[in-house]
Amino acid sequence: MSLTPAIDTIEIPHSAGHCPVILGRDLLTQPQHWAHTLTGAVLVVTEQTVAEHHLKPLMDALGNRANTDVLVLPPGESTKNIAAWSSVLDRLVSMGAMRDATVIALGGGVIGDLAGFAAASYMRGIAVIQMPTTLLAQVDAAIGGKTAINHPQGKNLIGAFHAPRAVVSDLATLDTLSDRHYRAGLAEVIKYGAIGDIAFFEWLESRTQPLSQRDPETLQTAIRQSVINKKTVVVEDERETGRRAHLNFGHTFGHALEALTEYGSLEHGEAVAIGMVLAARLSSELGLLHQDQAQRLSTLIEALGLPTEAPAGYGAQKIIERMRLDKKNKDNTIHLVLLDDLGHAVIRPTSEAEITQAF
Ligand code: GLY
Repeated sequence: MSLTPAIDTIEIPHSAGHCPVILGRDLLTQPQHWAHTLTGAVLVVTEQTVAEHHLKPLMDALGNRANTDVLVLPPGESTKNIAAWSSVLDRLVSMGAMRDATVIALGGGVIGDLAGFAAASYMRGIAVIQMPTTLLAQVDAAIGGKTAINHPQGKNLIGAFHAPRAVVSDLATLDTLSDRHYRAGLAEVIKYGAIGDIAFFEWLESRTQPLSQRDPETLQTAIRQSVINKKTVVVEDERETGRRAHLNFGHTFGHALEALTEYGSLEHGEAVAIGMVLAARLSSELGLLHQDQAQRLSTLIEALGLPTEAPAGYGAQKIIERMRLDKKNKDNTIHLVLLDDLGHAVIRPTSEAEITQAF
């Protein structure tokens, strides 16, 4: 009997149709599960590090499909820029891609956002198939249709909602992730439990060891349940007019820390982990959340090998100053996602004096 979990498909309805999220091991080399989603000219957009590991298997799976091309970009957040976006459009033009063309985004959140935005803008929108190769992208970035590039003045300032035609999450691609990148992805997994799914949170508490060891069955269950949680939120609020903002739990503090550390020393998931601890501590200080529950969140984050404290030198004052610049602030008030129960998020306008209590 094979211990490899079966291939799962989770259908996510959206305003323009529905998106199957196909999950399983070795999916890249099993095109029978996804090749039917490709139409017209196909452009694979990826980056060097991912290409080294996963491009050949994907190209072999595509076989000798006509009018197929590859664009390999440099790795890293700095690739999510206007010039790289323009280079994807240039390649589509040079291929003679028409409105039936398909972009395949093979990579992590940077490639997914960039290739997704190129697909959203080329000829007013062509199909994108997201093939996420990081845990973070499989549980968050590739799901729900947000696409964006950075403007010199800020992250994700230029973007569009553009639901993928399909998401193909090959769990075998996670094998090449470093321990640090893998654990950073677990921060977003924990987030789903903390904001909306106490049963999942408790399951994670009971599975810290198999999760740390990347047990295939445990990992697939964790990814599936994360996707189901994200689906629940984006189906209700595709355009982030309300509940979708709950997904930013830990992110306002986290973005501030990432910006202060110049997107260098902290992984996004690490910054979010610290941000969730701060947001839970603040929830508790404000009398919304029992202290024991804030502690449970911190304990789980630590058990999964993630940081729970901001790096030395990044205290309340610096973080609050940076939070003021967050594009999600309204009327100069910082709107924070807090917890009023473990497994239940609320959004609350929060004064700077209150925020200092998180530290
Ligand atoms: N990553 C947050 C969202 O998709 O809304």
